[in-house]
Amino acid sequence: MCGIVGYIGNKKASPILINGLLKLEYRGYDSAGISTIEKTGLSTMKDKGRVKNLYNLPEIDNLEGTIGIAHTRWATHGKPSKENAHPHMDNTKTFSVVHNGIVENFNELKKLLCDNGYTFYSQTDTEIIPNLIDYYYKKETDNDDLKFLRAVKNACNSLKGSFALEIICKDYPDNMIVVRKDSPLVIGKGNGENYISSDIPAMLSYTKEFYLLNDLEYVVLSKDDAKFYNNNLEPINKEIKLIDWNASSAEKGEFEDYMLKEIYEQPKAIRETIGSRINKNSKCEFEELNFTKDYLQGLNKIYFVACGTAMHVGLAGKDMIEKLCKIPTEVDIASEFRYRDPLIDEKTLCIFISQSGETADTLAALKLSKECGAKTLAITNVIGSSITREADYSIYTHAGPEIAVASTKAYTSQVVLVAMLAIYFAETLELSAEKTTLLNSLKEELLVLPKKVQKTLETSTEIKNFAKRIYKEKDIFFLGRGIDETVAKEASLKLKEISYIHSDSYPAGELKHGPIALIENDVTVISIMTDHKLVKKTVSNIQEVISRGAKTLIVTNQQIDTDMFDMVIRIPETSTFISPILSIIPLQLLAYFTSKEKGLDVDKPRNLAKSVTVE
Ligand code: AGP
Repeated sequence: MCGIVGYIGNKKASPILINGLLKLEYRGYDSAGISTIEKTGLSTMKDKGRVKNLYNLPEIDNLEGTIGIAHTRWATHGKPSKENAHPHMDNTKTFSVVHNGIVENFNELKKLLCDNGYTFYSQTDTEIIPNLIDYYYKKETDNDDLKFLRAVKNACNSLKGSFALEIICKDYPDNMIVVRKDSPLVIGKGNGENYISSDIPAMLSYTKEFYLLNDLEYVVLSKDDAKFYNNNLEPINKEIKLIDWNASSAEKGEFEDYMLKEIYEQPKAIRETIGSRINKNSKCEFEELNFTKDYLQGLNKIYFVACGTAMHVGLAGKDMIEKLCKIPTEVDIASEFRYRDPLIDEKTLCIFISQSGETADTLAALKLSKECGAKTLAITNVIGSSITREADYSIYTHAGPEIAVASTKAYTSQVVLVAMLAIYFAETLELSAEKTTLLNSLKEELLVLPKKVQKTLETSTEIKNFAKRIYKEKDIFFLGRGIDETVAKEASLKLKEISYIHSDSYPAGELKHGPIALIENDVTVISIMTDHKLVKKTVSNIQEVISRGAKTLIVTNQQIDTDMFDMVIRIPETSTFISPILSIIPLQLLAYFTSKEKGLDVDKPRNLAKSVTVE
């Protein structure tokens, strides 16, 4: 949540900062601001609303400084307003700060500062930070080069919660300090310049060389240098990481919206995620993993822990691991898992799925699992993200940057990766010959999947027509059984987050136990049917809603009598284990076209942000 950008170099900072903010707007978009160091001291401009309000400010062109920090906000403390927008300055206007995260003890710190004569002008937790730095700065007796850094460090030591900070100081016009704790921040190395960002894609057009920071590492930046310090302020070395995403992968190109582009990128994302991990005649390989047969046989449980769409991937993973490996598997929402004393120990493998690798609850659940002795495995899309740096093992989807708030290509790539993981576990366990045949056919199915995804995208025109019929509705229901119910959940989340239509998903068989009371004339019911063992049962459930006047959309690869339904979308056949990868695609498109019909901002739905880095 919240996007952070910084620049220090020879160029005018403000256009680079605004450009970075525009690319990071998916992280938060209720207000934006910028601070630069000018010849006259610190200059700060901010406004409520989207970044375009900031760059439309006439004074913005007057900023000449070559050092600056900027922020696009997703409000936590205090409503979206100009006063609450970042950057925030201290009372003496010596420091300017942007902050991503939450200061949990801000009331205590505010009291300490108020008792010492400080005044506050916003409702944010952030405003205490520049004042706290000033408080410690004034206590410094040595006027040496590290005075600024010591004040920042002392302030950070007082903060509880999470933070990624950029700080500039009018007394140090050639420096910027950055630090993070449980909130993302990277430094991009340029030629005689440094870029700072909460997300790599925002800086890809400037550099591919990044420094990745660990918690409580401090960086003193100048245009030609980056000096790294640990929490004792001892100098440390940092290696540069080369990020091989290209800049165009973070641009919309010819597409109207990022979401549409990302839906259409799914064949490529899946192909690249499979990479060379699967071959027809050899075992599935994960060079990052070294699980043995003994270890897997000794497991009491596997846990998938994640949030939102990533958690829905876990549901598909449970089905695969239990059926292919016979290991009991549970799926939990990270924000619940961490507070319910989960039964885990050294015989539990906890798998954390997160596109961004930065989701606060998932990260906290991972730390808890490690404390309980479990082994931890991260599945993410972002190299070097916080979750990968905490986990014992990390495996990556290769979906490229996902910018739209609604996750699409990350979901399908994650299901592919989890399927390969299940195959790898099953092959390591050396189960029966019958299982080997099943695994081989599943591998063949995975290898042809990108083509089938391409074919499924051809349903777009029919789906667009259906969206025209439903976009004014208030409630929509998604039904499925078995693996199709997990897709119903994901489809329902996708529709509600970008079309603002209330939708719910249910196991089709559960309908008669309550939800059917909501079915009335002309209500839309959407059902997914890809499991031949369950299709007849689901058809019966749909007949029950048709009898009560519902209009129906069916996504299926099964032979069914199509006459009774309003629309049937045919998708290619594949193994039930991986059918979510195909069956979700028409429903991603349905969410997209419904949102477009309503004239909404598909990529930046209200109240949401791409990566949820606060609890
Ligand atoms: C997906 O469409 C959502 N925007 C959201 O549920 C997302 O999947 C969730 O916040 C988890 O994010 P992560 O994968 O980056 O951890």
